[in-house]
This record gives sequence, structure tokens and C-alpha cells, in this order.
Amino acid sequence: MDFMTDRDVEKYRRDGFVVMDGLLSPQECDQLRQRMAEIVDEMDVPDHCRITFSTDHDEQLKEQMQGNADYFITSGDKIRFFFEKGVFDDKGEFIVPKQRSINKIGHALHAYEPLYKKVTHSPKVQGIAKKLGLVSPVVLQGMYIFKQPGIGGEVTPHQDATFLYTEPLGRVMGLWIALEDATVNNGCLWFIPGSHNSGITRRMVRTHKGTLPLTDFVGREQQYDEDKFVAVPVKKGGVVLIHGEVVHRSAVNTSDDSRHVYTFHLMEAQDTRWSADNWLQPSEELPFPPLYTK
Ligand code: FE2
Repeated sequence: MDFMTDRDVEKYRRDGFVVMDGLLSPQECDQLRQRMAEIVDEMDVPDHCRITFSTDHDEQLKEQMQGNADYFITSGDKIRFFFEKGVFDDKGEFIVPKQRSINKIGHALHAYEPLYKKVTHSPKVQGIAKKLGLVSPVVLQGMYIFKQPGIGGEVTPHQDATFLYTEPLGRVMGLWIALEDATVNNGCLWFIPGSHNSGITRRMVRTHKGTLPLTDFVGREQQYDEDKFVAVPVKKGGVVLIHGEVVHRSAVNTSDDSRHVYTFHLMEAQDTRWSADNWLQPSEELPFPPLYTK
């Protein structure tokens, strides 16, 4: 039997998301977490986080912001580190244990980390894409989100197509895999069921210039009715499929538990135009890899 049932497909089409338990075994989750712990242990503070002292405060700030922006916009085909706020002192040394400092690592884990690559192209994931009728899905990005205990920040309501825009819409889907239980307490996702049918109102676009800002927003996020969001807890090893236009958010993690997640995005490449204005672009080094390969 398929991992994804007809009922799951129905739910996904109706609500714009669906949870399926047991995509990974607890052992597979632990292996991914173990590998991530090694990556973090080996991690150096990225150069742009080391502030070079300058007597011109404004100039220093500008350099820092440019460094941050460059680091992000060129991260599509690399494995890079993004931190929570306030984790460095003024010399760029950690003031919290480095394991607790990271917000996320991305955006090419799916390509360059063998264990992550294996999960991304696993028969179960390929089966999900086939069940949904995807003809030539490609992997856009893969990242690890830590949602640190006590400081893991909130993610405000958004649609993923705001950042991953295609023509037509409806070609992008996220897979969000809980590597430990995601609960209301440690910052699970919240969705507005059925909100994936009315397009998007905001886009993040490249400014196509070398100076700040490198990206900008066109349009505005709507005001959503707080009552419409439903919490979607996921057990360790479970996956949430996220339609590119479904509205979702996650709360601050105020608990003592982390909420580690491996998440990646697929796009149906057949008859789809990937926007050249998206921040994320396929590169010579890493074109978007087809899902239906090992
Ligand atoms: Fe999202």
C-alpha cells in the first residue's frame, strides 16, 4: 500500500496541508539529528558575523548588513548557518553555547549532506510525489530548523509562494519532517485550512543590484483572523505536506524542549516557470535536482 493514502490526498487538496505519521523511524530521525550535531560542532563563526571594528559606526553597520544579505542570497547552493538574535558578543564570539545559537541551516542540505539527500529522494517521498501526480518534480531547497528552547523565534503568518514564486502558482509543496515531537508547547505549525485557493498577496523579489537591499517585498501580507488558525502537532518521524499557498505560522518556543525539523520544497517543473525574481536561483554548481533519482 502507498504510504500516502487516498484520504491523505483528499485532505491535502481540501485543506492545503496534511499530516502523515511515520515517514521516518525514530532511529532515522536520531541519525539525522546526530549528523546535524556534528555539523554544528565543526561549525566556525561565519566571517560576516565577526564585526570588524571601525570608528565610523554607520559604515560598520552598513557593512554588517551587506554581509548578512550577501550570505543569505548566495546560500541556495551551500550549507550555511543562520543565527538567533543576540548570540554574539561585540567580537563575534558566542555568548550562548553554539549548539543553542542557531536558528536554521540551509539551503542545500538536500544536495550536499548524504543522509539528508537519501531522505529527500527516499522511496516514500518519491511515492508521495507520484501519488499527487507530479510528473517531473525537482528539489528547490533543504534546510534544518532548530526552534531552540526558550529563544526559538516566531514565524509570522505567510505563504511559501511569497518566497518561492512560480507561474502558474500551485506548483510548490513543502515537506516538513518532525525529527522530534512538534507540539503546541514547543512551537508546532498552525494553519488556516483551505486558505490555499486564493493566490498570494505578497512577493519577495530580488532587487537585481549589488547594494542593499538585495531583496524587497511587493504587496502586503493580509491580516488573518487569529481564530482561523488550527494547531498541527506532529509526532517524531511524521511529515506535514504544505501547499505553496496555504497560510501558516509558528509560535515562539517558550518551552524547555527544542523542535528540530528537516524541511525541503518540491516544485513540479513540467510547464512551470520559476521566477527569475525569486531570491533562490538554481546555479551552475547546483541546478534543482530531479526528485525521481537517487
Ligand atoms: Fe513556511
